[in-house]
Amino acid sequence: MKLILLGPPGAGKGTQAQSMTHFFQIPQVSTGDILRSEVSRNTKLGKEAKAYMDAGELVPDNLIIAMVEKRIAQEDCQKGFLLDGFPRTSNQAEAITAQNIDIDAVIELKVPDKDIVQRLGGRRVHPASGRSYHIIYNPPQEEGKDDVTGEELVHRVDDQEETILLRLQVYAEMTSPLIAYYKEMQKQDKTHYFEIDGTQAIDDIGQQIVDCLHSLPR
Ligand code: AP5
Ligand code: MG
Repeated sequence: MKLILLGPPGAGKGTQAQSMTHFFQIPQVSTGDILRSEVSRNTKLGKEAKAYMDAGELVPDNLIIAMVEKRIAQEDCQKGFLLDGFPRTSNQAEAITAQNIDIDAVIELKVPDKDIVQRLGGRRVHPASGRSYHIIYNPPQEEGKDDVTGEELVHRVDDQEETILLRLQVYAEMTSPLIAYYKEMQKQDKTHYFEIDGTQAIDDIGQQIVDCLHSLPR
């Protein structure tokens, strides 16, 4: 199964991806997580991407498209994958379509901007795995520690209010046109599009996603 999770920063893409990858046995391909790993390893790509990410701007399409093509060519992606945070521009979406990669479903998590700042302000992440928590809505078992490894959780550099607002603006300008793009693909029977209310409880959203995906023709 090849899936895309679409939604603004803080919509819960990473949170839902954790259970979806487990449930559907497909890897999560989070461009944000891959980029953060490149930054922390100080690679050439990481050095090029860092300033864009810290500022809340998009990393240039050519770098991202090459990075995703390389990732999904790997063995573990041959039976499917869950794209989280990609595509984010029309060029990125066109690149997948041009490669004849059939996307079974696009799942859009809808969350109003007013909820996002609060969510991201309280978010804590485990950098190595990308696991995401919230100090109130989804706290770890032990404060400040990852549930699986016990390692320290961190506050992302781009989760400052000013940067969050800019990321929302970038989403509205550059990424939200993809909603119409994939709805049009659904009309042409090339994919399935599901809109989910991302303000519900985390488990309820997860269940709704599973129900939608089980409704797909096999
Ligand atoms: P990326 O890492 O993809 O960030 P993002 O899209 O801004 O999304 P987030 O990871 O912030 O949010 P999320 O939807 O995963 O929410 P989460 O589940 O964590 O990208 C970072 C940067 O990398 C970009 O700004 C850009 O520079 C670059 N980049 C990445 N991909 C790129 C691309 N394709 N092209 C160009 N540049 C790219 O949840 C958020 C919080 O809410 C958590 O605290 C969570 O616990 C909580 N929460 C989740 N669900 C709920 C719920 N239902 N109720 C209450 N709280 C909830
Ligand atoms: Mg994320």
